[in-house]
Amino acid sequence: MSEQAIARAFGRAARSYDEHAAVQISVARSLLAMLPDDFAAQQGIDLGCGPAPMARALCARLPNCHWLGVDVSQAMLDEAHQRGRLHDRYQPVCADATALPLADGSQDMVFSSFALQWVDAAAVTAEIGRVLRLGGTLMMALPVTGTLRELKDSWAQVDEQVHVNTLLGAPQWLQQLERHQLACIDAQTITVTEHYPSLAAIGRMLKLTGAHHVSGRQSAGLLSPRRRRALEQAYEMKRDDKGLPLTWQVLFVVARKV
Ligand SMILES: C[S@@+](CC[C@H](N)C(=O)[O-])C[C@H]1O[C@@H](n2cnc3c(N)ncnc32)[C@H](O)[C@@H]1O
Repeated sequence: MSEQAIARAFGRAARSYDEHAAVQISVARSLLAMLPDDFAAQQGIDLGCGPAPMARALCARLPNCHWLGVDVSQAMLDEAHQRGRLHDRYQPVCADATALPLADGSQDMVFSSFALQWVDAAAVTAEIGRVLRLGGTLMMALPVTGTLRELKDSWAQVDEQVHVNTLLGAPQWLQQLERHQLACIDAQTITVTEHYPSLAAIGRMLKLTGAHHVSGRQSAGLLSPRRRRALEQAYEMKRDDKGLPLTWQVLFVVARKV
């Protein structure tokens, strides 16, 4: 998937991201909570930072650390600025995660939540391994196989096209980390299921957080009333007493550069 297409999809969601990204932001908070109490760092990057919802928490948790908020979408970084999240200890860098404008071994820490699923796993783990110093820490959380499965299953009953991105599994990510001298200290996969009142509400949440972009698809196109009804009927079969379920399977990793 091209970075420009991803940057455009996220750019359009920059303004609305925070208010609709409840799962994403709670995952980022849980990831930060995995940081050992005695951890210290001088230089870190928040990779795929979006509008930097974690800027304040990262700066508070590591008061001596200078952060770069890196994102491929300038609109996301502009939104971070609008929201007053950029300052001398958290500065923006518009760059692709697979080609960071940073020196080898320059970072004590790479923090990345809900971003690297959009990026080539081999290329980005190589790049993280390059910029981390020996002994530096990677903290990463991202959705893996099994994510949005209710939506994927429902679409499968309507047609055979790809409507939901195919994500890598946790073992594939862990293998990539190992290949790039990133030794895993902790890895956990958790299941988060949210409920929504309607299919329209699910579509809105995905669009307003930028997560609706599908790899290889030129345009979402218009959904004909007949196909929309078929999709709704298939999804309605999954409704429980809380509403329509939508599942995220999230991998959390803490790794050290060896
Ligand atoms: C779902 S947002 C996550 C934002 C934030 N990390 C959070 O936890 O809420 C994903 C972000 O990753 C960025 N992103 C996607 N592909 C990227 C790439 N190749 N390089 C840098 N950033 C990328 C997107 O522009 C978007 O802002």
